Amino acid sequence: MNKVIISPSILSSDFSKLGLEINRLEENGADWIHVDVMDGHFVPNLTIGAPVVKSIRKVTKLPLDVHLMIENPEKYIKDFVIAGSDIITFHYEAVKQNTSNIIKMIKDYGIKAGISIKPKTNVDEIKQYIKDVDLVLVMTVEPGFGGQKFMAECADKISEIKKYKNDKLIIEVDGGINQVTAKYCKELGANALVAGNYIFSANNMKEAINLLR
Ligand code: DX5
Ligand code: ZN
Repeated sequence: MNKVIISPSILSSDFSKLGLEINRLEENGADWIHVDVMDGHFVPNLTIGAPVVKSIRKVTKLPLDVHLMIENPEKYIKDFVIAGSDIITFHYEAVKQNTSNIIKMIKDYGIKAGISIKPKTNVDEIKQYIKDVDLVLVMTVEPGFGGQKFMAECADKISEIKKYKNDKLIIEVDGGINQVTAKYCKELGANALVAGNYIFSANNMKEAINLLR
């Protein structure tokens, strides 16, 4: 079986020492760094923007997995590319009929493009785009906050996505991932996992990351 990618979410980190938190993730075996960008409109919370990604870029060589939970992502994609993102994932619900343009915009910058769906959105709505993206991000909580409970019925979308999958597609799951829910998602076919609370609340970060693999 291929190795699963572990992408810790810095949303659960201590932002007063973000550089050290990223070093700690890197030393303890993280594969990617997951950056949750929220605008207070698409989701009921505000987090960080491109300047923070630019700062993070200076302290790590790990791929930056940027999750845009924002309206009008097309206005900000360029900023996030210049800041050093390696993967930019947008929400289908935020762009709908503009989806093909957004995918092209991200890929034209030479980085990976991801599409994400909220718990209430069906795979059917995005199936036509799966062949064009590098990554599909399945939300297993309502986006907006870390530390929520995993919704198993959302993870079942993984099996459906697999039907439209090519060899290279990354199926990433985000929300409520721990040792138990990680196993469930991997069995269904996920090959990348985001985890915030589980990794940052662990006494032993290395062990927590390893237990997700
Ligand atoms: C939620 C974010 C997640 C969140 C995951 O809107 O997209 O990445 O940080 O946090 P946990 O792993 O604590 O559910
Ligand atoms: Zn996320």
